[in-house]
Amino acid sequence: MNILLLGSGGREHALAWKLAQSPSVEKFFASPGNPGIADHAECVKLDVLNHAAVILFCGLHEIDLVIIGPEAPLVDGLAESLRTADIWVFGPDKAPARLEGSKGFTKDLCTRANIPTAGYVRTTNLPDALTALENFSIPVVIKADGLAAGKGVIIAETGEQAQEAITMMFDGGFGDAGAEVVIEEFLTGEEASFFAITDGKNVIPFGTAQDHKRVGEGDVGPNTGGMGAYSPAPVLTPALQKQVMDEIIQPTVDTLAAEGTPYSGVLFAGLMLTDTGPQLIEYNARFGDPECQVLMMRLKSDLAAIMLATAKCELDQASTPTFESQTALTVVMAAKGYPADPEKGGEIRNITSAEQEGAKIFHAGTAEVDGNLVASGGRVLTVTAMGDNATEAQAKAYAAVDQIDFKSGFCRRDIGWREVAREASA
Ligand code: AMP
Ligand code: GLY
Repeated sequence: MNILLLGSGGREHALAWKLAQSPSVEKFFASPGNPGIADHAECVKLDVLNHAAVILFCGLHEIDLVIIGPEAPLVDGLAESLRTADIWVFGPDKAPARLEGSKGFTKDLCTRANIPTAGYVRTTNLPDALTALENFSIPVVIKADGLAAGKGVIIAETGEQAQEAITMMFDGGFGDAGAEVVIEEFLTGEEASFFAITDGKNVIPFGTAQDHKRVGEGDVGPNTGGMGAYSPAPVLTPALQKQVMDEIIQPTVDTLAAEGTPYSGVLFAGLMLTDTGPQLIEYNARFGDPECQVLMMRLKSDLAAIMLATAKCELDQASTPTFESQTALTVVMAAKGYPADPEKGGEIRNITSAEQEGAKIFHAGTAEVDGNLVASGGRVLTVTAMGDNATEAQAKAYAAVDQIDFKSGFCRRDIGWREVAREASA
């Protein structure tokens, strides 16, 4: 089959690397892609906001399957436009993509489907929000409803901070994303990510992972898109995974289908493992970045076949995906200044020798300038390795990191610390 992959990050490089291993893939295009993706696919420039142009490209190149990597085109309805034009696509339509595009939508769905999640109130103006706030204890979580590039969540440690956050959001601090504000009860526990693939009718679990969202070692500093991850996340025991499928994922898929807006694609649940069981923090309508990198390292099955079966609503006929039992761990190398103001243009050398350490290096924000590889984004590389446990995978990943010459870059040195500590005390 001929495929078109949309996106340019480490997630898309990992998808491209895995898709290229599929015997069924013939012509493979990516847009815009990156220098790593270019090893596997022909990179082309398409404006994803121009749905007609994407459809035209698919017609010209006889594309059988489009895979949408990031959330913005999904929330914008690109998958729906492609489906309407009879092109198979991996990713949800606009209405179900609101699981990521509107936090209030997801919270209301949880209420309708009796899915465990933090107590909340949706508000559309400052006076209502300030009144509602009085019923929450501290700390309290304030969220801009819409897409805010991962920055729209503020955990307020005092009532004053909560009022400031609400005021800032209604003042346009996150643009349109803050036109509605969700106030949420603060949950405590360990966070973990759970993935499922669904065609709207059939649902299959697709692995677990743990991310490291804060920029600094010891989980301090501002939130980022993710500084590293590992998979599997043993904290999500088989019993807990079953509970997540039964109490969270399946009711979500069933409710959306029953309401006439079936969800097709990957469902990425951010969970808090509380004393009373797993609760949903948020949904994403796509793979995580860098969680995708560790999932793809472990996936043994044919990714293109799974994605096509999902798009065709034939997941019941596909073979069950299998994963290596080993641990995969990825370390993000970011440009200095990330997340606030990453330094662009820094040179990167020695990727090939780093890969000889047994790691796979996915490009996240790189560009080729005059034959040299340089940093072009906040998160630049994701250095990924496998091991028999997190301790071994971590050692291999950092051995590769240490081979890379990227003077204007940095990384956290403690990715996987929770699991490594558990392994040390086992
Ligand atoms: P989100 O963008 O919804 O994933 O939120 C970003 C981060 O904020 C999450 O990864 C959690 O660490 C934290 N968070 C969000 N909602 C809650 C909550 N209700 N209780 C505690 N922490 C939360
Ligand atoms: N790494 C978190 C995310 O992709 O949303």
